Amino acid sequence: MTTNKTFTMIKPDAIGNIGAITKMIEEAGFRVVAMKKTRLTPAQAGQFYAVHSERPFYNDLCAYMSSGPIVPMILEKENAVLDFRTLIGATNPANAADGTIRKIFAKSIEANAVHGSDSDENAGIEGSFFFSQLEQF
Ligand code: CMP
Repeated sequence: MTTNKTFTMIKPDAIGNIGAITKMIEEAGFRVVAMKKTRLTPAQAGQFYAVHSERPFYNDLCAYMSSGPIVPMILEKENAVLDFRTLIGATNPANAADGTIRKIFAKSIEANAVHGSDSDENAGIEGSFFFSQLEQF
């Protein structure tokens, strides 16, 4: 079942481009359902990215994701998960298509500007990590 929702967060490297990135997201047809500026502790970053805990980049990723503010958002649009992944481009900005958010704003495979959920199920889990039902409009 599709929920027509996805989850994203603007990462520390792109925190100076909140406005420009959110403009691209809205112009692509996504509605911002919930949004805030916050910061993760290393332990919280580890919890969020627990699925990657066996990967060689996990410790660096957790350190990086707790190194500065982030902006998590819940977004709504028909076919949200897949359409958002198209909008942001490949994980490695070197491989991202022209005009995608990562191609324009990302600095490296780790500091890659934004996260995007890879499934409806994970969008729900990741959105709940930052927002309660009451915070969603
Ligand atoms: P994200 O879409 O948030 O999901 C997992 C994150 O791990 C990814 O974006 C990158 O920030 C990071 N990542 C993925 N692959 C690598 C890699 N090979 N080296 C370093 N970081 C990576």
